[in-house]
Amino acid sequence: MPRSVLAISGSLRQNSSNTGLVRMAMRLAPADLAITHWTRIGGLPFYNDDLEADPPAIVSEWRDAVSACDAVFVAAPEYNFGPTGVLKNAIDWVTRPLGQHALRGKTISIVSSAGGTGGAHMIEQLSGILALLGNTVISEPVVQIAKGAERISADGSTTDPEIETLIAQRLAALTR
Ligand SMILES: Cc1cc2nc3c(=O)[nH]c(=O)nc-3n(C[C@H](O)[C@H](O)[C@H](O)COP(=O)(O)O)c2cc1C
Repeated sequence: MPRSVLAISGSLRQNSSNTGLVRMAMRLAPADLAITHWTRIGGLPFYNDDLEADPPAIVSEWRDAVSACDAVFVAAPEYNFGPTGVLKNAIDWVTRPLGQHALRGKTISIVSSAGGTGGAHMIEQLSGILALLGNTVISEPVVQIAKGAERISADGSTTDPEIETLIAQRLAALTR
């Protein structure tokens, strides 16, 4: 059975290059990876513990989707040297209740298309957070694409074949 991978983009922008990286990954996925793009993280409410008594349907859907997958593929920009708010919020929802949370034990692959840094700070911070949560983070080969929006379209196409090579190599790493 193929390994199931849930993919999310950390950018809500319609022409997002990170959404492009998710679509590129789906196009390049080897037969032993089944990648599903969860497109609704922008619809999640801000995390609020008061909502835990009766979580909104979208929160349950997000938690169920994460629970059901073997691995999570994150393509996200860097905002002000860290992860975007929408991505951090989505992660917060799947880290409660602590110990039985949906993200528990998942392998997580992080790639970034950002501005001048290529997302290096974001990947470092997010990897640190996920390591503290006990997740295995795959960050090799390094996929930190500086000024990626100039070369990656939201439909998953790119003018730079090296980016496709990097994504294919990262997907191969996810199958191991
Ligand atoms: C609020 C904000 C802060 C940003 N901060 C950084 C940053 O710290 N480092 C960086 O490399 N790019 C930064 N950028 C640029 C984005 O990472 C870049 O535009 C990226 O392409 C956006 O991703 P997207 O194409 O998926 O929407 C920032 C952009 C915004 C809107």
